[in-house]
Formats: sequence, C-alpha cells, structure tokens
Amino acid sequence: MKKVSKKIRPAQRQEGTIFLPGDKSISHRAAMIGSIAEGRSRIKNFLKAEDCLATIEAFKKMGVSVELKGDILIVNGAGLRKLKRPPSSIYLGNSGTSMRLLLGILAGQDFESILTGDASLSKRPMKRVTAPLRQMGADIRGKDDANFAPLTIRGGRLRAIDYVSPIASAQVKSSILFAGLYADGVTSVEEPFRSRDHTERMLALFGADISVDKLKVRAKGADRLKGKDIDIPGDISSGSFFIVVALLLRDSEVIIRNVGFNNTRTGFINILKSMGARIEAGNMRDDWEPVCDLTVRSSMLKGTTVEKSEIPAAIDELPLLMVASVFAEGRTVIKGAGELRVKETDRINSMLYNLGTKMGGKISCEGDDVVIEGTGTLRGAAGLASSGDHRTAMAVAVAAMLSSGDSVIDDITCIATSFPGFFDILESISIY
Ligand code: S3P
Repeated sequence: MKKVSKKIRPAQRQEGTIFLPGDKSISHRAAMIGSIAEGRSRIKNFLKAEDCLATIEAFKKMGVSVELKGDILIVNGAGLRKLKRPPSSIYLGNSGTSMRLLLGILAGQDFESILTGDASLSKRPMKRVTAPLRQMGADIRGKDDANFAPLTIRGGRLRAIDYVSPIASAQVKSSILFAGLYADGVTSVEEPFRSRDHTERMLALFGADISVDKLKVRAKGADRLKGKDIDIPGDISSGSFFIVVALLLRDSEVIIRNVGFNNTRTGFINILKSMGARIEAGNMRDDWEPVCDLTVRSSMLKGTTVEKSEIPAAIDELPLLMVASVFAEGRTVIKGAGELRVKETDRINSMLYNLGTKMGGKISCEGDDVVIEGTGTLRGAAGLASSGDHRTAMAVAVAAMLSSGDSVIDDITCIATSFPGFFDILESISIY
C-alpha cells in the first residue's frame, strides 16, 4: 500500500465531548461468536476497521451470512459445526487477534483451511496457540513447527485439556476456550496474570457453560450457542490517545461517552491515576460489559513503577504510557514489557527510536524493562516512524502534539487497522 505521511502541529489545549468507535477486541469476538451461534445476532457499534473486516471476510468465506448496515453488523450464524470449507486461503491482513482466535474455532471444524497474513502477521509467533490446539487433537502445519503463517489447519472432534499458559495473553486463552467448545468434557486455561476477559463474558452471554475461578477459566464442550443482539462499548484503547493529550495540555477537559470500562482493560487508567491524573468515571453501567462516561482534566503527573502483573490490563497502551511518562515529574519504569516486542512490530524499539533518537526524550531499555526520565519536553521532528504499526503511529501523533515544533510521521495508513477516524476525532477537540 502507498505510504501517506502526516504533518502534526503542537496543540494548545483540548476540549469537547466524543464518542468512540466500537471496541476492537469485542468486535472481533462478536463477529466470531455470532457466526458460530445459531440464529441472528444484531451487533451495534461494530468497529469498521481493517482488522475486524478481515474477521468478517473470513466467516463469509466459510458460508456465514454477515452484513454491515452502517455500524450494525447482522450475522446469521451457521452454528458451531456448520461452517463450510473456505474455497481458497483466508487472508487476515495485519490482525493477530483474527488469526489466533480463528485457529481455535477452526480446530473444531472437520475441514482443511489455510490462514495467511501480511508481512508483519507472518512474523508473529503462533506456536503459543498452535501447540495447545495440537494437544487437543487439531492437525496444524506451518513454518518452524507451526509457529508462523501461512498455517494449514484441519480440525474435528477435540480432546479437553487443562492448559497452564506461560504468558498472560487473551488471544491464547480465547483460542483454547473456543476449541474447548468442540471438545468432550471441560477445557481449562490458567494464566499467570489476568488478561482481558471479553471471550468468557460473550461466550457465557451466547449460552456457553463458562466458569471463572481466579486465574483459571473453564469452558464445557457445547452443542449450540444462541445468537444475541448486543451493543459494543466504545474502545478504551482508542480513547487512551485523547486521554493523554487532554491530561497533558493546559486548561483541557474532554468527556468520552459510552466507553468500555472492563477492569481487565483499565490498567492504563489506573496507572495514570496513580501518577496523579484527574480522570473520573461516571454514569457507570454494567450489562454484559461495564461501560461509563469518562471526564479527563489537565493534570500534573508524577513518575511511577509499573510491575509485570499490571502489564496485561494495559498492554496496548504501553507505548502511550512511555509518551505520558516523558511529561511526568521524575522517573517511570515499566517492568517486564517483553510482550511488546511481539506485537504488530517491536513497540519497545519503535518508541526508543521515536521518543529518544528523534524527539530528544530520555528513554532506555534494560532487558524487557523500559525506563523513561520525565524531562518534560520533546522536540518536533520529521521522519517519525510508524513502522506500519497503528498503535505506534497514534502514540507518536500524541507525542508530536505535545512537543515543541512541527513533526511529520512517515506513514499513517496503518491507523486504519484499528481506528480509521482517529485524526477526525483528534481535530474535533484540539485547539491550536
Ligand atoms: C487482544 C489481546 C492482546 C492485545 C491485542 C488484542 C485480544 O494481545 O494486545 O491488541 O483481542 O484478545 P495478547 O492477548 O496477545 O496479549
């Protein structure tokens, strides 16, 4: 795809009320679970971004009737075992969530399919899901012992397993729980720390027998799931970019309405609050996913130490935390952030380059720990590098808005994978 650069000016302040597009993790799961349920699911505020559209296309290829009307996704589910063999390989673009979760569903299908992705996805480790799915009985082949796409999978009736995951990853957990629906008996996944729990919640809502006991989640083999109508909360990960700008510009106040506030996703908010951020959650409601309205006001931040146990609930916001930490008084240490190296790109390296080398911030890394000195200033720079990673591009855009002088980000097309309207919302609340 052709690269598109973007010039960013520093902003003075931010003010306004915004609504966010649907949560990416929840949108993926809604398309997937709707497709393997029976009957119709009507999914409001579905995220129309490239990653979630890749998930929809995958199920269309397997014979599911899926239709987008505005931001409402209407799925006429095929049922757990009625997906059809795709006529050609399934291309999942940049989307790790699509590939890892889909593998869990395909592990239960009695046909062969081939999953492919773009250059970044083809380099991301898949053994973390293919190994347990093979233990359950799925036949999966691919480079380096099924660690890299393209992956060929043939599934069928599976064996239940008790899996102790070495990493806290919702993608791993979800993939195994999906496969567990196709196994005789009860499958369990235990993780070292709690990762996002959207799969557990939504499977239970659609009728699966799911139980949660501390860090262990169990799924019982199922005959059927039942379609549902759901409303997807705004994506708190997308909202985080505006939160940081509003906190760090003077005299700013931004209200974010209808945003997901699941405590397996609010780690970043908790960390910011511990740094002194004025963020208030009001109008809290909890139907099947907690939702609230957030008010964010300019704040003075202090450096902090983030422990490894805090990482899963803040994983996608860590590049942004590095930006915020530059403007906090004192030192911030993010411990055990190694998972950032296997995201769409190595996000530790990208932030060292952009914040450190290009913008003059004091940021370093020792092993998997990232250390940021709160120097309080960044200089605008040309040639800021997104490396084709949506979250890096948006975190760097935030850094550029907070810096002195204009900046240019080399390529922003990647933002479409999770948040096509990012700059429109940013412009609507920014005052220069
Ligand atoms: C996701 C889980 C996280 C996150 C990703 C989305 C999900 O990945 O980084 O953006 O929807 O399950 P891991 O589970 O691999 O940490």
